Amino acid sequence: MSQPKVTRRDVLGGIAVSALLPRVVLAQAGFDLRARRKTLEVNGRAASVLELASGNGAPGVRLRPGERFVAALTNEAGEPTLIHWHGQTPPTEQDGVPGLSQPALGPAASYAYDFAPRPGTHWMHSHVGLQEQRLLAAPMIVESAQDAGQDEQEIVLFLQDFTFRAPEEILAELMAGGGAHAAHAAHGMRALNDVEHDAVLANERTLDDPEVVSVEAGGRVRLRVINATASTNLWLDLGALEGVVVAVDGDAVAPVAGSLFPLAIAQRLDVRVTVPGSGAWAILALREGGAERTGIMLATTGAAITRHASKGEAKAPAVDLGLERRLSAVTGLASRPADRTIDIALTGGGADYVWGINGRRYGEGAPITLGLGERVHLVLRNETTMAHPMHLHGHHFQVVAIDGTALLGAVRDTVLVPIEGTVTVAFDANNPGRWALHCHNLYHMDAGMMAELAYQG
Ligand code: C2O
Ligand code: CU
Repeated sequence: MSQPKVTRRDVLGGIAVSALLPRVVLAQAGFDLRARRKTLEVNGRAASVLELASGNGAPGVRLRPGERFVAALTNEAGEPTLIHWHGQTPPTEQDGVPGLSQPALGPAASYAYDFAPRPGTHWMHSHVGLQEQRLLAAPMIVESAQDAGQDEQEIVLFLQDFTFRAPEEILAELMAGGGAHAAHAAHGMRALNDVEHDAVLANERTLDDPEVVSVEAGGRVRLRVINATASTNLWLDLGALEGVVVAVDGDAVAPVAGSLFPLAIAQRLDVRVTVPGSGAWAILALREGGAERTGIMLATTGAAITRHASKGEAKAPAVDLGLERRLSAVTGLASRPADRTIDIALTGGGADYVWGINGRRYGEGAPITLGLGERVHLVLRNETTMAHPMHLHGHHFQVVAIDGTALLGAVRDTVLVPIEGTVTVAFDANNPGRWALHCHNLYHMDAGMMAELAYQG
């Protein structure tokens, strides 16, 4: 992904900010982002999907150390849309959640964004309806000063699940008591996947025709892996290669070595790998509970590329907190007792496919309140038969307890709460506004598993 070449004139020329929306003045050159339709070929068949085009010939955006995120988003999708900058902590009115931050953009409307970004591997996606399942998402990479000094090759691995069906039809089927969810819900059984997809994509391709990235024998590679699926927890499988996790959700962690790492929906992993010599290696992502997989190839010049089928031999196990328990932030929160502890029960998921937080669907209850300057603990307790990757907007939290065992874990923005699990996260309430807390399984969120966190006063 190269730097975008968008001039100030291009960006300003693209703006027709609606009179109803707060006006943000672009102070410098920025990104000209367009949400629009496109055709993508998957499994040899053309599909109509959505894309977030950045006009720079490469997917997504990349910012240099210290650069502000300045962008104009234009809606050319022909339906209302709005983009959330996942992993970023902008002022609340730029967070891209309809109803909390700003109204959705109507067809042909534009909106300008300007904030200091948080370094790391992040992404951006629609927060309207089920558009994320229609692939309206892209990487958002913010280089840090330390990254710039590294002698390493960067490779972004953007993972998405794909269906030829209309996602609205899938959700309607689930809510009518059908689909893969029904059988286990009826028996109170635990479940891993409640949506069957037609493919898992790695940088928009499948293993039938994977991206082949040329690497140097002995060279250092930094994989920036993004689980941008709508509802698929994954394992990152480095195969014969050994990797070292150096960051999660864009925040540095003490290094953890391995070859197989869990990656829940919406999470990111930065993994360093040294290319051991000449050859070709598959970097795979395995769907939990299934044999489906996707990936890219790393290959030195002239190396023979072996083909990997899109279905492996064995089913991958459930994604768990094995890695989470071993993570510790390089820069954690300052040590301080909680001023406020909030119990968050994850509820629902019966045969009617209604999900909730503390027994309420999104919009049914009053917002959860907190006060500016407080140290807040969220105790996320799973009372359902599925795992939920929980995401907090506007703040990064530190994982401070898993099933009652205290730890000084990773600082991140999305944490998996497994079946029967309890995960406590801590954050400082330092970004006033109205913020979403939700499960990042798109179908669970749309069916109610979301709450508003609001600052008092
Ligand atoms: Cu990835 Cu509510 O966001
Ligand atoms: Cu969920």
